[in-house]
Formats: sequence, structure tokens, C-alpha cells
Amino acid sequence: MSRPTIIAGNWKLNPPRIDGNRLLEEVAEGLSAREFWPESLEVFLIPPLPYLGEWLVRGVSPPIAIGAQHCSPEGWGAFTGEVGVPVLADFGVKMILVGHSERRQRYCETDISVGVRVGRVVAAGVRPCLCVGETEAERDAHETFDVIERQLSAGLESVSADDEIVVAYEPVWAIGTGRSATPQQAAEVHRAIRSSLARQFGVQRADRTAILYGGSVNPGNASGLLAEPDIDGALVGGSSLVAGDFLGIIDRAIETRRGGPAVSK
Ligand code: PGA
Repeated sequence: MSRPTIIAGNWKLNPPRIDGNRLLEEVAEGLSAREFWPESLEVFLIPPLPYLGEWLVRGVSPPIAIGAQHCSPEGWGAFTGEVGVPVLADFGVKMILVGHSERRQRYCETDISVGVRVGRVVAAGVRPCLCVGETEAERDAHETFDVIERQLSAGLESVSADDEIVVAYEPVWAIGTGRSATPQQAAEVHRAIRSSLARQFGVQRADRTAILYGGSVNPGNASGLLAEPDIDGALVGGSSLVAGDFLGIIDRAIETRRGGPAVSK
């Protein structure tokens, strides 16, 4: 069984161009200084759209790859303001977030439209990162597992066992609040997600699928989370906007994957 470990920085609606380009440089320089690099470790930066054009044209150095925060459920056509999966794929985007709770809550994305988007992303040969997670009220009402199951089954409706996907468990109450889930809380949901993937796609596919945790990840709590066998990385918001913090989280991933195969840098 081998699956990737992914550390992805979701910049959301930040920062100004000069700071964003500096942040990219600092992260790239920091990564090139790391001597040991686990073969399984992937790093994504997921900036606002205009950065994508700039960076993808000029190129970014591995191991950094570029992701997008959003895509339209439509492909091409008269949909002002939208960005479609085919154009993102054409420009070299390697992963697309789908169903982030901020999109579900503020931009009325539904389980069904999330599933349509995921279908378009896999059809274009790009990896979707399907975000799922319960609100605080749902957790308090003991509905966490039902919510996750509902979001997974609708979100993965058009996916087959051959498609490469990533799932991110992001409890809504932990996003941007500084209140991360404990490793135990996150791990039990990650186990449930993997079981659900196994029921839908088979055990092998489930074992090869990266399931990331997101919600107030920082260099201080990353080790505990990443040490859990079913937590395969992190989707990082606030801490991805500070190069030292983002690199610190990557270092925790390097430390927890040290026992595995490495590639030379
Ligand atoms: P946060 O955001 O790390 O700032 O909590 C995570 C996310 O929304 O992906």
C-alpha cells in the first residue's frame, strides 16, 4: 500500500501580488534547502486565480505543484465570471478544491453541484480534492458521520475506482478558528471516510487515496495529526500565508515520513 502525503496551502482570497510572489519564492527556497525528501510527499500551493496564470506560464519548481480553489460545474460557454475545469487543466493546474465549506455555505454549492464539479475534474484528468466536514451544530447533534457519508456519496457520484482523487476532512468548526480537531477526533472521521471509500471503490483504491485533514493546522499541531495512520496530509489555510509556518508543517510531514523511501534533491 502506498499513498501520497500532501501538504496543500489554500491561500483563499489572499494576499496582494507582491506578498504572494514573495511567499512563493520563500517557500520554494525553503524547500530546495531541505536535504531529505520523502518520495511520497507532495506540496501544493492553491492561490487566487490570477496567480495561476502568472506562475503556470513562468513555471514553478518541483516539488511545488499548483492547485485551484474553485471550478465551475460547466465546461465552456456563456457563464460570466466562472472558470471551467478544461481551461484550468489546459493551463497546467494539477489539483482543484471542490466543495470547500466556504463555497458550500457562502456560494450555495450543493452536494449535487459539488458532485458535478468532481465529475468534470476527474474527466479532465486532474485530481479533485473533495472537501467534506460537519458544522459544530451537526457534531453536537451526533450527525458527523451521516453528514460525511452524504457529502462523500454525492461528491463522488461520477467517480470510478480508476480515478485519482483526494479527500479533505475539514470540520467547519475548526476552519480559521484556531481550534483544530484533536488527532483522535480527526482520525476517527478519517477511518470512516476510508471505510466509505472502500465500500464504494474497493479496499485497494481506498488504501491508495490520500485523505487530508484541514482546520487550524499549524507547525505545533501538525505532528500529532500526521502521525495518525489515516491522516495523509493537511489542507492549510491561515498557516500557509506565512512561509515559516507552512515550511514548519512540511517539516513535520518530512519527520513523520522519514522511515519511508526518499528521493534525492
Ligand atoms: P485554516 O483553513 O487552516 O485557516 O483553518 C483551512 C481551510 O479552510 O482549508
